[in-house]
Amino acid sequence: MKVVSTAEELQKATSSPDSTPLGFVPTMGALHRGHITLVRNAAGLCRKVVVSIYVNPTQFNDQDDLKNYPRTLDDDLQLLSPVLRENDIVFTPDDKEIYPVKDRRVFHFGNLENVMEALHRPGHFNGVAQVVSRLFEIVKPDIAIFGQKDFQQLAVIKELVRQTGNKVKIIDNPIVREDDGLAMSSRNRLLSQSIRKKAGIIYKTISAAASMINEHDIPYLISYVKKNIERAEGFSVEYFEIVDDIELKPVSARCEMKKENKYFGCIAVKAGNIRLIDNIEIPL
Ligand code: PAF
Repeated sequence: MKVVSTAEELQKATSSPDSTPLGFVPTMGALHRGHITLVRNAAGLCRKVVVSIYVNPTQFNDQDDLKNYPRTLDDDLQLLSPVLRENDIVFTPDDKEIYPVKDRRVFHFGNLENVMEALHRPGHFNGVAQVVSRLFEIVKPDIAIFGQKDFQQLAVIKELVRQTGNKVKIIDNPIVREDDGLAMSSRNRLLSQSIRKKAGIIYKTISAAASMINEHDIPYLISYVKKNIERAEGFSVEYFEIVDDIELKPVSARCEMKKENKYFGCIAVKAGNIRLIDNIEIPL
């Protein structure tokens, strides 16, 4: 694999005829098995793959979170090297490469801006849209692969692609989990030992709630999830919502759920001082 850090080098490396279809896996580094699954999937589908590693400052609404975000470039390259092929590329730009001038663009995503993460992390998705559109402009991928853990981000990116008319195909990959069910995330490494030991409760609880959809009403399930997770010391639920997978509109009663749609239970939890998200499909 080749490691490049400027858009010019990247464009040179992706201009040869063996570069299509070009696959793209954008990341913020601190890679784990979930990312590696995305990269393997991209390599299976594409003749050349670009993996970007860039911690995007514009998507952090909390400066401490940005400061503490894990940066592990050497380990990341070691993890990627057995997976990427000789012609594949790791793109490690700096801030100037991505934002030669301050990005003042403001995006609008309709209802996606009014629910869940958007309410709890103001400005977050505008920053995601800025960086993803900029990365798409530089990399010009045919296919881009994202993980389903960031459920709302995926919906925002699909909407961004729709609005901009970009021809890139967005593929989503299932969540990869630890043995106890915890969704893999770069932030997991920031959990204290005692919190990490208990963190499997998040997936266990949302799975149980999903399986109870035909027996209990939605307010009950929301309150069940909150109570069950908060029994673990140091855990507090920011939200648990059941939403459709297109507009992400929260449903408040089972009778609002239509057979032709898909629904997901989405959660954000403060685990110690680390914020984790997860989701699960609600079977109808
Ligand atoms: O999901 C992430 O890691 C980031 O939000 C992304 C898509 C790489 C943009 O910075």
